[in-house]
Amino acid sequence: MFNNNTISKFQQLETPFYYYNLDLLRQTLEACREASSKYGFHVHYAMKANFNPKVLQGIQSYGFGADCVSGNEVLAAVKYGFDKGKVVFAGVGKSDKEINAALDADIFCFNVESVQELEVINELAAAKNKTARVAIRINPNVDAHTHHYITTGLDENKFGINTWQLNDVAETLRKSANLQFVGIHFHVGSQITDMEVFKSLCIRINEMQLWFEERGFKVKVINAGGGFGVDYYNPDTNNIADFDSYFKVFKDFLQVKPGQEVHFELGRVLVAQSASLISRVLYVKNGLKKNFLILDAGMTELIRPMLYQAYHQIENLSRQSESPEVGKSESLDVGSQISDLKSQITKYDVVGPICESTDCFRKDVELPQSFRGDLIAVRTAGAYGEVMASSYNLRDDVQSVYSE
Ligand code: LLP
Repeated sequence: MFNNNTISKFQQLETPFYYYNLDLLRQTLEACREASSKYGFHVHYAMKANFNPKVLQGIQSYGFGADCVSGNEVLAAVKYGFDKGKVVFAGVGKSDKEINAALDADIFCFNVESVQELEVINELAAAKNKTARVAIRINPNVDAHTHHYITTGLDENKFGINTWQLNDVAETLRKSANLQFVGIHFHVGSQITDMEVFKSLCIRINEMQLWFEERGFKVKVINAGGGFGVDYYNPDTNNIADFDSYFKVFKDFLQVKPGQEVHFELGRVLVAQSASLISRVLYVKNGLKKNFLILDAGMTELIRPMLYQAYHQIENLSRQSESPEVGKSESLDVGSQISDLKSQITKYDVVGPICESTDCFRKDVELPQSFRGDLIAVRTAGAYGEVMASSYNLRDDVQSVYSE
């Protein structure tokens, strides 16, 4: 829910833009820091979720580490002041250039995703007379029960090393003089809200650390990855995730030995709820079968609905008090008002301007009758929103606006 001052501010601005509620971001970071530090857990921010400079600065100031998936993300982590001793570099396809950049930056460790990658890092580190710290990303074959495009921990996925290849890993580690094994890494997928998935992951991690320890490898770091999801259906009432319940699963089910560190790589849950995509209605098109709201934002600004059929709540800010999805309990609790308002509710397919039929945020969205120029908010867009924007159709870059 946006207050009137904020909406008045939006009215002065050119659309589309991402609006960041920095206060909510800080509250979320504080909640995560408090819950994780209770158990001595270390959180790295998965930068791929959002590398907006203000977001990065905010997150860095809370002392979190950075989980990077490209050489440029590693360089951005260093640039924005993340402690390089808390920077990790994951990804199935690290190029030689990227590995060299990370070696030069003296990051904490590489999360390695294949035996061949281990060999390449060893060679490149040797050429620099350095020792690279490595963690082995193991594919745990745990089903994340999430959208198949964002599940990563199954045997059929390209990520991580399958357990049947671990003997090769052990052998390669033994003969690689420029590698230092620090631990094991897992990531089963994204937008996971079922805690049973993380429980299954813990059980798998326990088995895997035993495997390494039995072969004489000391597992100093257990990295459980990220994936903790958010509630896209209640952007206002449920806007800070239950970090306590999440970390408690790991506290309860992970076998942590004295001196071991437990790391997490959280992306979405830290940033999703603090941003909305704000756009305007360009045209209202009433058809025989469908009504369309054509916005000035589309898949070039937020591709999640088109790529993963992802749900985002959509609100008409110019008619906020009449909206069925907004502040459900606050604005619609008077019986007589409900019947008045219902008559004005219209179903719209909310679409963008891009020349693709898939450029649709949602179909049959119930909204108050809407008009050209109305401000529309697409909520919970802080993760994998701005960073996945493109210039397809030679669109302008999407802008960012901050709460302060
Ligand atoms: N660690 C690794 C190795 C990952 O691959 C990812 C996300 C994360 C951590 C952070 O996951 P999170 O905590 O944000 O769930 N674009 C998709 C999500 C892709 C996630 C990719 N990997 C979306 O918009 O839903």
